[in-house]
Amino acid sequence: MKKNITFTMIKPDAMENGHAGDIMSMIIKSGFKISALKLTQLTIKQAEIFYSVHRKKPFFQELVTFMTRCPIIVAVLEKNNAVEDFRKLIGSTNPENAEKGSVRKLFATSMGENAIHGSDSEDNAKIESSFFFAGREIF
Ligand code: GTP
Ligand code: MG
Repeated sequence: MKKNITFTMIKPDAMENGHAGDIMSMIIKSGFKISALKLTQLTIKQAEIFYSVHRKKPFFQELVTFMTRCPIIVAVLEKNNAVEDFRKLIGSTNPENAEKGSVRKLFATSMGENAIHGSDSEDNAKIESSFFFAGREIF
């Protein structure tokens, strides 16, 4: 039976700065199983839909421009307590406040360009996973 799942994106700053391999290694070593994985580039429309909860925020346009800047890695990850454990692994949104040893502390450049995404609930993890993957692509 499937354990809990979460969804992640290795964001453009981390891709451009050559951190994708190190980040994938941290994820796997932390006990997450890869259930789905691909390289893709968000269109402006897709980024606007994915981050639609933030559409009224002052940083929305900046976020959409950033997230569409280059190809990103997207993945579905499986583990007990996946959402919470993954948020712990990636650290706080602002890398200045991110915990020592977290992905964002190690690799993020700023509040906006913060290396990685992690779902904030299992319901959103399912929605976000099906935004990128067909059922047959999730193992
Ligand atoms: P995600 O895992 O990407 O969803 O990040 P989060 O859950 O830690 O933060 P949140 O959902 O509140 O914000 C989504 C993303 O918007 C952040 O990861 C940042 O990339 C961006 N963002 C949030 N706040 C700011 C801000 O004040 N300025 C800028 N430029 N970007 C922001
Ligand atoms: Mg979020």
